Amino acid sequence: MASIYIHIPYCRQACYYCNFHFSTSLQTKSELLDALHLELIHRKNYLSGEKISTIYFGGGTPSLLEVDEIKKIIETIDRNYNLEWDKMEITLEANPDDLKKEKIQDLYSAGINRLSIGVQSFFDTDLKTLHRIHNAEQSHQCIQEAQQSGFDNITIDLIYGVQNQSDDIWMQNLETLKNYNLPHFSAYALTIEPKTAFEKMIRQGKITGTDDDQAARQFLVLQQWANEQNYLAYEISNYCKPGHFSKHNTGYWLGEKYLGAGPSAHSFNTHSRQWNIANNTKYIQSVKNNDPYYEMETLSDISQYNEYVMTSLRTMWGCDISLIRDRFGLAFANEITKSSLRYVSDNLLFKKDHKLLLTLAGKLLADNIISGLFILNDNDL
Ligand SMILES: C[S@@+](CC[C@H](N)C(=O)[O-])C[C@H]1O[C@@H](n2cnc3c(N)ncnc32)[C@H](O)[C@@H]1O
Ligand code: SF4
Repeated sequence: MASIYIHIPYCRQACYYCNFHFSTSLQTKSELLDALHLELIHRKNYLSGEKISTIYFGGGTPSLLEVDEIKKIIETIDRNYNLEWDKMEITLEANPDDLKKEKIQDLYSAGINRLSIGVQSFFDTDLKTLHRIHNAEQSHQCIQEAQQSGFDNITIDLIYGVQNQSDDIWMQNLETLKNYNLPHFSAYALTIEPKTAFEKMIRQGKITGTDDDQAARQFLVLQQWANEQNYLAYEISNYCKPGHFSKHNTGYWLGEKYLGAGPSAHSFNTHSRQWNIANNTKYIQSVKNNDPYYEMETLSDISQYNEYVMTSLRTMWGCDISLIRDRFGLAFANEITKSSLRYVSDNLLFKKDHKLLLTLAGKLLADNIISGLFILNDNDL
């Protein structure tokens, strides 16, 4: 199974934390969509005719597009790729302020069957801190109208560890989520990314950074709450009711092929990775003129191994040492068995059959543990 990701690089307003690729000027939108169609046509053999059962519109803000523009992209994909229509998951990331009743219904009719709504918080204080353009009331309306329009596959994004977000407010966010009985949600710890407004304000001493203790406490609250509510913590930031995994993201984590179209989008075909230029004007010109619009890296065994360790350990399926032995060889399997020992004895990792999994304490230190397991070069083997 393979998947297609479409990057829509526009937002109405820049959130203070975000360093995804987007522009707040929509002037290039129609030319960019032309280029996007061309890219999808040029690259129709990238996935070697493999069956596709997920399409994901991400961004930026895909809900800024007109429904007809979205429909046309789906049609171009359908004409050029091998879609498994009976299994198809088509997700659209949406900002609550974009989705009025009629548009939600039109999206549903256009074939979008999964909405990912960027709620972030049900409290206006948090939304102001994050510099979101929408308010809490708009999120409530958006979720309710989506449910009334027939969307049963809805996920929302939440952020914890926000400056001045008390543990009580975080808990109330979770309790609000409970009222909607959603099959899936994502919860991210606020991270201060380079080249964001937050990073600049912190550097200038205008605001404080994030508080690791607060983020850790709120993560533990989240784990316990998710468990009590029968949500599976199937990935560090992703939670679903049994059976309601995001097909698209699960494909990434299981190392399946994907094609990413649009500026900054990444693609992966198991042996190489490529990423499109993260500049709207250059992307449009290069695609039009048939000039190179992406860079490519052929993946060595070591980088494929590191990638597998990084993605698999974050999931509830864990990192499979037998799979490492079969796919990369005994030296790699021996290396992870050895390098994981200290984390197992510190109770940060545990072993179940031939799999390594993060303990709860380990999840709090996931990034450090994962980089501690990376192989840097041949000398490590
Ligand atoms: C790229 S955004 C696109 C979704 C949509 N534009 C929106 O904002 O609702 C995907 C999600 O990543 C999360 N995110 C992005 N940057 C983050 C950061 N620095 N820290 C924590 N979460 C972040 C937000 O929850 C956001 O909804
Ligand atoms: S979080 Fe979403 S809306 Fe905000 S800047 Fe990033 S992509 Fe745009």
